[in-house]
Amino acid sequence: MPGLPLFWRGNEGEVIMSILIKNAHIIGAAENFTGDIYIQGESIAAVGKNLDIQAEKVIDATGLLAFPGCIDPHVHLEMPFMGTFSSDNYETGTRAALHGGTTTVIDFILQSQGHSLYEAYNAWSGRANGHAVGDYSFHMAVTDFNENTSKEIIDLIEKEGITSFKIFMAYKGALMIDDKQMVGLMNEVKARGGMVTVHATNGDMIDFLIAKNRAEGKLAPIYHYLSQPEITEAEASERFASIAGYTGCPGYIVHMTCEGALNAVRDNNRHNQKVFAETCIQYLLLDASLYEQNFEGAKWVMSPPLREKKDQEALWAGINQGLIQVVATDHCPFKWEQKLLGKDDFSKIPNGHPAIEHRVELLYSEGVRKGRITLNKFVEVLSTNPAKIFGMFPRKGCIAPGSDADIVLFDPNEEHTINAATHHMNTDYSGYEGWKLTGKTKTVLLRGQVVIDDGKCLVEKGNGKYIKRNKVEGKI
Ligand code: URP
Ligand code: ZN
Ligand code: ZN
Repeated sequence: MPGLPLFWRGNEGEVIMSILIKNAHIIGAAENFTGDIYIQGESIAAVGKNLDIQAEKVIDATGLLAFPGCIDPHVHLEMPFMGTFSSDNYETGTRAALHGGTTTVIDFILQSQGHSLYEAYNAWSGRANGHAVGDYSFHMAVTDFNENTSKEIIDLIEKEGITSFKIFMAYKGALMIDDKQMVGLMNEVKARGGMVTVHATNGDMIDFLIAKNRAEGKLAPIYHYLSQPEITEAEASERFASIAGYTGCPGYIVHMTCEGALNAVRDNNRHNQKVFAETCIQYLLLDASLYEQNFEGAKWVMSPPLREKKDQEALWAGINQGLIQVVATDHCPFKWEQKLLGKDDFSKIPNGHPAIEHRVELLYSEGVRKGRITLNKFVEVLSTNPAKIFGMFPRKGCIAPGSDADIVLFDPNEEHTINAATHHMNTDYSGYEGWKLTGKTKTVLLRGQVVIDDGKCLVEKGNGKYIKRNKVEGKI
């Protein structure tokens, strides 16, 4: 494209910049070649080898990987939960995400039981709008399905671009809905072209085991793990998949941890019905032996809990078999003083752990470098699949003309160590303290703007845009 101007005018008064990224090793879910990326304004204008184009800014990416900005479809920012709030707000959370190469997050709005969906939507929008540094979107968690919520679902899909609805099969009395509500919601969401996502664990069984352990004076963090055995997740996953199959509603299981739940999806696929599955980076890399320490184990108290080595093997295999399409984080950070709320009783430890910043680097170092997944699979599960499943593709999730210029430039050889003193998340510990990784996010572009450069964030809060999503109806 010789002869293109360095600047041109967009809307009135707006000067649009151009950037040429040269000699990058470009990786997509299916591509893998060395070439150049030309960006005009917020979008990618051209991708190819030896592009002969002038640009205002040239970035030499020799020796670096370039892949589409990663999407984390499972985060909880400033979420009211278990008597406190998750400690990253929209500013700190999305900034930490950008540092690690995640340019878009999807957070969960939580309806309060007895209140409308729009009340919750307004509260979450108020916290996010003008505060987010990176791009964001919302799922809506329906905790009280009734006639009014049914009507609101239509508006949320059509007007707000919220096309995924979350249910909790656990956390009774706060978030859990029963099977009757689940069927009703699935019928409604299917009719409107949306998808239902699920926290699939058997809440009643877990509550029984929690009460039993507490009554027996078993109060240490390991009893969090022992109160949520694999069967509680396998059973709920099976039930969810069966009801999704019956209603025909597209389904997506969040934070899958274990072989039993994976087998529920596998069995379901044998009936020609597709339920998408997401695991999270911690379930691939960490195991339940971490709960064997005393209260330190509270750092990894999350639901579902960490599992066994055999489950990690099953999850890696599930990714390679295409049964698990997404690796997210379930980023739900708390400071140590918040975890101390449960120092005398595991059931009061706020559930969740920080991961939004390191998912990409951990998956590269532990997954790609160790030969567990290919580079293409890495991009597929971190970016392309979440974009497709959640209705943002091809705007997000690929490096192609017309797409948002969300690009990560990544040094595959740089070594570094995870350390709470230097991370950007608003937590005073890391679940991966001292882990030595190979591969580091160096430069991040979000909608054509360099937002991270060599460890520095170059944009302020308010830079992030709300992304309305399309209906996908379970087809990717
Ligand atoms: O422990 C977790 N996962 N906390 C966040 C809420 C949820 O269940 O996803
Ligand atoms: Zn959950
Ligand atoms: Zn979650």
